[in-house]
Amino acid sequence: MNIKMDLCYLRLLILAIFVIFPCNSSAQCIKSTPCTCIREDGMGYDITSLNNKKYVVAEKNITFSPCKNSNLTFNLSRFNETECNSTSICWLNAKNQSIDLGKFEEGVWESPNDSKNVNLVFRHNSANKSIIYETKINLICCPNCVKSILNIDSIIGTKYNLTLLSSKTCLIRLKSLGLSTGSVLVILLCVFSSLYFIGGAVALKVFRGAVGLELIPNYDFWSDLPGLVRDGVAFTFSGCSIVSYERI
Ligand SMILES: *[C@@H]1O[C@H](CO)[C@@H](O)[C@H](O)[C@H]1NC(C)=O
Ligand SMILES: *[C@@H]1O[C@H](CO)[C@@H](O)[C@H](O)[C@H]1NC(C)=O
Ligand SMILES: *[C@@H]1O[C@H](CO)[C@@H](O)[C@H](O)[C@H]1NC(C)=O
Ligand SMILES: *[C@@H]1O[C@H](CO)[C@@H](O)[C@H](O)[C@H]1NC(C)=O
Ligand SMILES: *[C@@H]1O[C@H](CO)[C@@H](O)[C@H](O)[C@H]1NC(C)=O
Ligand SMILES: *[C@@H]1O[C@H](CO)[C@@H](O)[C@H](O)[C@H]1NC(C)=O
Ligand SMILES: *[C@@H]1O[C@H](CO)[C@@H](O)[C@H](O)[C@H]1NC(C)=O
Ligand SMILES: *[C@@H]1O[C@H](CO)[C@@H](O)[C@H](O)[C@H]1NC(C)=O
Ligand SMILES: *[C@@H]1O[C@H](CO)[C@@H](O)[C@H](O)[C@H]1NC(C)=O
Repeated sequence: MNIKMDLCYLRLLILAIFVIFPCNSSAQCIKSTPCTCIREDGMGYDITSLNNKKYVVAEKNITFSPCKNSNLTFNLSRFNETECNSTSICWLNAKNQSIDLGKFEEGVWESPNDSKNVNLVFRHNSANKSIIYETKINLICCPNCVKSILNIDSIIGTKYNLTLLSSKTCLIRLKSLGLSTGSVLVILLCVFSSLYFIGGAVALKVFRGAVGLELIPNYDFWSDLPGLVRDGVAFTFSGCSIVSYERI
């Protein structure tokens, strides 16, 4: 192999790394529907199929209706309440009152900085706007779970920390691998340059009986290229003046 050709491939490789890597670095899951979020790499979460299930209940005092608003008013509620009339998550407090923790439209997808986990987060103002309830449902993938299980991790003030274990809360492919235009161009470039050099070498060998460096198609051009590039760069950095160009 010729050193100049190796250099050419090295440049292609570096270009490929720069073009392809930024696409895979972002693991942020962007809400696409109230039930799904999707990352740039086409992977994501889809809990749509949970909404056909009965409500998911934790410890009899939190009821979650995934992806849709339902009447979640607790039967235990002591008063005629409309609070959880039509909502996605409802809490029965110590006074046996149903408290609305959020409508399905209020759900947002958030990933903690340090983790790849995803939380479905609800922030909801109490009816008199004096309290903001914040409910984080940490989705945990449990491939072998038959039932979906909602657990209360902690309740601190008006912050509710829940976990939802389910086979429906796993990271799945939602979109076929979306190659960026740049990646496609680099792949095409690699394919065609390989075809060009390998096919060219074979053709030269077969038709002209070429050996050694002669096997490189358009050898004169390629051997001049590094020099041309160097001159071009020097010309550019010297302020493109004719004088300095002539000095090169
Ligand atoms: C939820 O209900 C259980 C009993 O069903 C009770 O022990 C627990 O204290 C309740 N938790 C809250 C936060 O009300
Ligand atoms: C919601 O459910 C509660 C308890 O089951 C019931 O008392 C109430 O009438 C229902 N409200 C609506 C709007 O269906
Ligand atoms: C409330 O009671 C009604 C009828 O008694 C029942 O159909 C419904 O499932 C109960 N709701 C809850 C959340 O327990
Ligand atoms: C509950 O609602 C029913 C019908 O909507 C009403 O007749 C009853 O008086 C209400 N009870 C209370 C305690 O508000
Ligand atoms: C409660 O439900 C009834 C009947 O579905 C509806 O007319 C009413 O507006 C609801 N109230 C609230 C506060 O959501
Ligand atoms: C809440 O309801 C339960 C079950 O009916 C009852 O045992 C309890 O005393 C009630 N708590 C309050 C504060 O009313
Ligand atoms: C997460 O990142 C944001 C901004 O980068 C920062 O303000 C916040 O404190 C971080 N949170 C944690 C828990 O590290
Ligand atoms: C607002 O409502 C909450 C219960 O939902 C109650 O504890 C609080 O005292 C109310 N605040 C005002 C200013 O009415
Ligand atoms: C919620 O609970 C999990 C597991 O117990 C914990 O790692 C996380 O820090 C908690 N988050 C909040 C906001 O309390």
